[in-house]
Amino acid sequence: MKIIRTVDEMVSLSKSVRKGGATIGFVPTMGFLHEGHLSLMRIAREKSDILVVSIFVNPTQFGPNEDLDSYPRNFERDERLCASENVDIVFYPSKEDVYPRGFRTEIVVKELSGILCGASRPGHFAGVATVVAKLFNIVRPDVAVFGQKDAQQAVIIKGMAADLNFGIDIIIAPIVREPDGLAMSSRNKYLSADERQAAPALYRALSDAKSAVESGSLSNSSEVIEMIRDKILLAGDFRIDYIAVVDPGNLEEIDEFRAGDYLILLAAKIGSTRLIDNILVSI
Ligand code: PAJ
Repeated sequence: MKIIRTVDEMVSLSKSVRKGGATIGFVPTMGFLHEGHLSLMRIAREKSDILVVSIFVNPTQFGPNEDLDSYPRNFERDERLCASENVDIVFYPSKEDVYPRGFRTEIVVKELSGILCGASRPGHFAGVATVVAKLFNIVRPDVAVFGQKDAQQAVIIKGMAADLNFGIDIIIAPIVREPDGLAMSSRNKYLSADERQAAPALYRALSDAKSAVESGSLSNSSEVIEMIRDKILLAGDFRIDYIAVVDPGNLEEIDEFRAGDYLILLAAKIGSTRLIDNILVSI
């Protein structure tokens, strides 16, 4: 396994891999890896000859009052986990190399970036889209794998890749959860023991809503949102940011249910930790 620390080296290595005819699979991450990240690596590994994982805590996707400085980091541990997943190349650049002095470009996927998580995290998705576009150009993968855990991010990246003709196969992998249902996240490390115990209530509420919708006992989104809100607020000291029922393809809000697929998403804070989760529903 090679550790590549500069953009120039990554660009030339990727060029020589492609020249040799090998395909490149890519999993971008911010490190502090867990089973969710590893599941993406396994999918990318199967779909390509050379597996590249990037580890970069991207400053431009954090707001001024967010957790950039405290975001958990442990490169040695990440390196070991990547090696155990047969990663070929870990791309671990510095922020000065990714954003040299004079960097001015921003990619905004309009409409999708200002809603849901984007409404309370202004600039977040522009930071994500911009860094992912840069990483795509540096690594030049054939396939890139992202997680459904960040459902809005997944839709935005798919939209960007299509709009800008990246020609990369974007795969979205299912959410990996703790045994009690909590969606795995690097940020779960921030939870106190009490908060950690309350946190699975988010998934329980989503699962109950899914059963209620699929069995036909709830027929519109306001009923679903109310049911989820009540369950969450009963279960712990949560501050709900949003609960929404949307079309999984374009994130447009849905009112009445007809036959089809829907995505229920939510974001809530417990203590100082912001958690997100979502579930797909089919009627
Ligand atoms: P990060 O939060 O490290 O997540 C990296 C990838 O892992 C994302 O595609 C995310 O959706 C996926 N992931 C995280 N938790 C998951 C889980 N429990 N199950 C399945 N997949 C999971 O998302 C980012 O980093 C950044 O925004 C990035 C795309 C790297 C751009 O900076």
